[in-house]
Amino acid sequence: MKKLLAMIMTSIIFVTSLTCVSVSCQEFETRLGFVVEFNGETIDSASVIINNTHYVPLRKVFEKMGAYVFYRNRDCQVLALSRDGDTIRHIVGSNIIIVNGEQKEFENPSVLENGGTYIPIEMVSAALNPDRILYDNQQLNIQKYLFNNNYHKIIKDVLDVCGSSNFYPERFQRYIDYHVKMPDYSMQEVIFRVNLGLDYSFYENATTIEQPYDLLVLVNKYFKLPEGYEQYNLVKMGREYTVNDGKQYLLAGVAYEKYIEMSDAAKKDGLSMKVLSAYRTENYQRNLYNNKVRTTGKVNADNYSARPGHSEHQTGLAVDISSTKGTFEYTPEFKWLQKHAHEYGYILRYPKGKEWITGYSYEPWHYRYVGVDAAKIIYEEGITYEEYYAKYISQNEFR
Ligand code: DAL
Ligand code: ZN
Repeated sequence: MKKLLAMIMTSIIFVTSLTCVSVSCQEFETRLGFVVEFNGETIDSASVIINNTHYVPLRKVFEKMGAYVFYRNRDCQVLALSRDGDTIRHIVGSNIIIVNGEQKEFENPSVLENGGTYIPIEMVSAALNPDRILYDNQQLNIQKYLFNNNYHKIIKDVLDVCGSSNFYPERFQRYIDYHVKMPDYSMQEVIFRVNLGLDYSFYENATTIEQPYDLLVLVNKYFKLPEGYEQYNLVKMGREYTVNDGKQYLLAGVAYEKYIEMSDAAKKDGLSMKVLSAYRTENYQRNLYNNKVRTTGKVNADNYSARPGHSEHQTGLAVDISSTKGTFEYTPEFKWLQKHAHEYGYILRYPKGKEWITGYSYEPWHYRYVGVDAAKIIYEEGITYEEYYAKYISQNEFR
């Protein structure tokens, strides 16, 4: 303890939102504090008193109180999930705690020492709502009645799986809500579905895509291209590759190259694939969708046609393929694509049986370019692009 105190005396590290700055704290009066207890159990680090305030080790106290603590290196952010179902955020070195989005400000900031965060005791009160804190005979005694009603059992179910690699602590409340809504699903199923966004209805809470020119961009009913987005890197397709309707079809650079390679390979095998839709502008997609709504009604339109901003065709990375041999699903061209599309970086984007994930009826004609590496995994695992994205691309920065 003396060693810890000495270290805190000489170098307390204050952390700002982006950089960690070392500041000497000689100006503070620092004293060894009290033994800390929670509901009568001792926590194996005492408090330290800085500036007349008791500081306690955040992780040890929170964990003793049943909360789970995560940390994000990028901005030195602590995110804790409590047994009461609260999400608590705190940037180490700041004097602010955010509980379920509500900000609370304090006189003293937290301090970082040897990788451990010490927070003023008032922050514990704001974050975990103890019944009382007693200062008694060199002891700092935190007391809280731990409920175990139905709601707390649900929270516990969620916290029990918070160590899984696909658990995103930021989605704590969504996991809780979905677990309540779908009590028959296993917790892994709850996590899987919330990670795909399926706890929201299609088009509810759509997120604007931050990097719309990324090859691996996910465009669907939850992710929308920014308004006014256009693809500029487009290549005109030769008429021999497209249906003969007088229109000029375009694809994005690399998707174009691999499409031509794929189409030529199919041709060598005696087949003839014809493109009947490729790049679309936002306005074109708007007209297409509106026409579909007018002619077939909104529910049907939403099964087949993306709303403007939500179509992969706007990226120039998607292509609709036809054959002269009838319904595409039953043509040899389709059979060939089922076997070979992934070798050219293309995937069948709206497969049969996965409508509940993609939000679209089966479209045997619609292929999306994602590059050979991603396409191979998607093909081998038999997953949708949504599942691939959740599993391999989404960043889980809290550890
Ligand atoms: N038919 C697909 C879903 C689109 O409109 O982009
Ligand atoms: Zn399409």
